[in-house]
Amino acid sequence: MSNIIVFGTQWGDEGKGKIVDLLTERAQVIVRFQGGNNAGHTLVTRDKKFILHLIPSGILPPDKTCLIGNGVVLDPEVLCREMDDLHKGGIEITPANLGISKKTHLIMPYHKELDRAREKAKSGKDRIGTTGRGIGPCYEDKMSRVGIRAGDMQDRDLLLAKIKKALPEKNALLESLYKEEPLQAEEILGIITPYADRLVPYLKDVSLKIQEAREAGQTVMFEGAQGVQLDIDHGTYPFVTSSNTVTGNASAGTGSYYSMDEAIGVVKAYTTRVGQGPFPTQQDNPVGEHMQVQGAEYGSTTGRKRRCGWLDLVILREAVRLCGPTTLAITKLDVLSGLDSIKVCTAYEYQGRDILYPPQEENSMSAVTPVYQELPGGSEDISQCKTRRDLPHNARMYIEHIEEELKTPAEIISVGPDREQTIM
Ligand code: IMP
Repeated sequence: MSNIIVFGTQWGDEGKGKIVDLLTERAQVIVRFQGGNNAGHTLVTRDKKFILHLIPSGILPPDKTCLIGNGVVLDPEVLCREMDDLHKGGIEITPANLGISKKTHLIMPYHKELDRAREKAKSGKDRIGTTGRGIGPCYEDKMSRVGIRAGDMQDRDLLLAKIKKALPEKNALLESLYKEEPLQAEEILGIITPYADRLVPYLKDVSLKIQEAREAGQTVMFEGAQGVQLDIDHGTYPFVTSSNTVTGNASAGTGSYYSMDEAIGVVKAYTTRVGQGPFPTQQDNPVGEHMQVQGAEYGSTTGRKRRCGWLDLVILREAVRLCGPTTLAITKLDVLSGLDSIKVCTAYEYQGRDILYPPQEENSMSAVTPVYQELPGGSEDISQCKTRRDLPHNARMYIEHIEEELKTPAEIISVGPDREQTIM
């Protein structure tokens, strides 16, 4: 019995889905604790590819329990679509393998409208570049204590009453400020009802389920979404998501006390970012293009091209301090093949001195200059390497350099999208 957590150390899209899928054989229960369908976790098996936005990435084996914790925000329509897509891929979702906390907040149509209208109304540099999935407005309602929770789906009258209570304020914003069409309560109820009816059997006390699993000696795996630099408190505010992505939130976001036996920090071998916001090591040049093309760096939720750049040890040091990984999982190492030399950002120059951790002031990350160390690259195809010893010398040196700098061993190295392309 143990608790394992998998989390993203950068700006999301580190390849957490593959790592959770790989480690799923060690866990019986896999639980999401934050974020919503702004996430896109890609799983590749020998003959199929699945992109999951809400359902935990442990869903592929038939004997696992996947849970959606209270810290998640859930779009009922998206979840139902995901269940249908999995069904088409031969994976059956039933209340036996999926549970939803009754305390999980629901993303309503007005959250999505507001998210998009707000972004549209902002001028270019102020845009966050959200995924437009209604994530921020839904978390806002949770904090304002006017949110609608998954448990409310059991009572149609309550659902309608809560929608009616929320709508005047939403419509005032939509109509007066954003010049958008107002929404009608009955119409929203009509949209939600078929999904709600389908999802009610999946409602569970997730906190209790986790306790029962632990009492039965089972291993629970907590699946993070996004990455540390998108954390609402610790990320590059205001260009962040609306939830705490750090490991500490696994506790509050599921209703289980924090005691992680293993914390796996997923580190992409270079850095990417999708959406607006500072990105000190971004390479707007052929190097960035190499990473973008070779790494197929397109957002799995929005299809947007990801910005790409060198590995940044400054943000990774902070991720280690905030989240305490016991192990690193370094992903997409193969993408760096073909680059003669590889740079790693070891510090930032900020206000005339070198700093080892990101500065704390808002937008200060836009004012730093990365200090690089240059390492030799290589052109060998490493995608079939099965052990660390199979890797070319320079690739091994790169991994060792990261391990030393972050004082954490890299026990997983991914050299391609397939499950088999992993050095454990
Ligand atoms: P939101 O989460 O849709 O509000 O978007 C806020 C910021 O977080 C935007 O820059 C998004 O591109 C980014 N973001 C949200 N979810 C993910 C993710 O799963 N991977 C990468 N970036 C994300």
